[in-house]
Amino acid sequence: MKICMIGTGYVGLVSGACFADLGNNVWCVDRVKEKIDMLNDGDIPIYEPGLKEIVSKNFVSKRLKFTTNLPLAVRESDLIFICVGTPTSKDGSANLKYVYNVAKEISRNINKFKIIINKSTVPVCTGDIVEEIISKKTKKKNFEVISNPEFLREGEAIRDFRFPDRIVIGANNKKVVKKIKALYEPLIKKGATFFSTNRRGAEIIKYASNAFLATKISYMNEIGNLCEKSNVDVEEIALGIGLDKRIGSRFLRVGPAYGGSCFPKDTKAIVVTGNKFKVDLSIIKSVIKSNNLRKKLLTNRIQKVLLNKVKNKKIAFLGVTFKSNTDDMRGSSSLIMITMLNKKGANIKYYDPSGAKNEFSKLKNVKFCNDIASTCYKADLVVIHTEWDEFKSIDFKKIVKKKFFKVFDMRNLYSLNYMRKKGIKYYSIGR
Ligand code: UDX
Repeated sequence: MKICMIGTGYVGLVSGACFADLGNNVWCVDRVKEKIDMLNDGDIPIYEPGLKEIVSKNFVSKRLKFTTNLPLAVRESDLIFICVGTPTSKDGSANLKYVYNVAKEISRNINKFKIIINKSTVPVCTGDIVEEIISKKTKKKNFEVISNPEFLREGEAIRDFRFPDRIVIGANNKKVVKKIKALYEPLIKKGATFFSTNRRGAEIIKYASNAFLATKISYMNEIGNLCEKSNVDVEEIALGIGLDKRIGSRFLRVGPAYGGSCFPKDTKAIVVTGNKFKVDLSIIKSVIKSNNLRKKLLTNRIQKVLLNKVKNKKIAFLGVTFKSNTDDMRGSSSLIMITMLNKKGANIKYYDPSGAKNEFSKLKNVKFCNDIASTCYKADLVVIHTEWDEFKSIDFKKIVKKKFFKVFDMRNLYSLNYMRKKGIKYYSIGR
């Protein structure tokens, strides 16, 4: 099929490359020339394991092309995916200006029947407005607007694209559903469930999924707080409740607080949508509150571990991104933790496999190190903030080279028994 992805960010680039890999001809469009130049030169503007290989393979076979020329790409394609950002506005809602601008540009370039597929995360009824915008320039029979939300996780996006649990299509026209089902047939054959509903339904499914997962995480984090106080191991509780198929065992891992480009943004946006429809989404509101409080709670806990003497203490942070296998700092709890500890006079070194972060470059006494050993050398406290694989078997005594030091593991990567045997003062979450 002839496809055009508008927006070569995370969603557009991963999906575009993967659609090309399934044998389609794909144009990836972006208005940022530097990004398109980079891609045409074989460089990848985002950090995603496995993406470079798929992009270059399909670029060489000419199934995947990059351009800033939106009119050309739209005219040559039958399926137009909108994959632009919907950042948070001041009031917490999703800012839809990029979606609407793209809709206007598409409307000026409809030369034959097009299916316009919205993959950007947008509040319910946005598809209706996109349809309205396009119908100002062309007849309704020349196009169809549908919704196809993405569920890609950063760091696992290629696998999530190739082996999705489900593919959700929101469309008000059955013929169009058939066409999109054909596009996804190779994934359906491998076991993905294809689910179609109306356009508004799919728009809500996206937000409701992310808000539910954020709720699951926050719920477990609070149960972890209770376990900590009652001397119970939260890992066992997660296993014990996860065995109930109604609950499920995934997304029950305790941690510093959820972050990333989606959960913080989407939970806020759905609350604003609820307000607009005069619906009080009180559960999601308290999830947002709980998650924000958690960042401060764990910063206080770091201080407690240091017996409230933070000034001049050497703290080593291992991992600062919001999770492993990404370079993304958005919504990461390390932003609050490192800034607050720095204010209190701590000397902080950090290491992240994805490199140094601009967010910390202006902070005095916060330094990036190139490896685990130099970050931890002579530290009073090692904080494991992100669950990168390379943090899972560290010989702490060998690299810290100091008699008394502590380890605060915010991802429960080590067993209590192991650390006890090693004679290391070890703190973790919910145990
Ligand atoms: C999420 C959704 O999973 C994905 O479907 C959607 O399209 C985009 O948002 P992502 O933000 O990449 O993906 O990461 P995810 O793996 O879902 O983790 C989000 C946050 O929750 C991270 O901060 C992670 O550390 C945290 N988390 C996740 C937990 O604390 N515990 C868990 O059990 C799972």
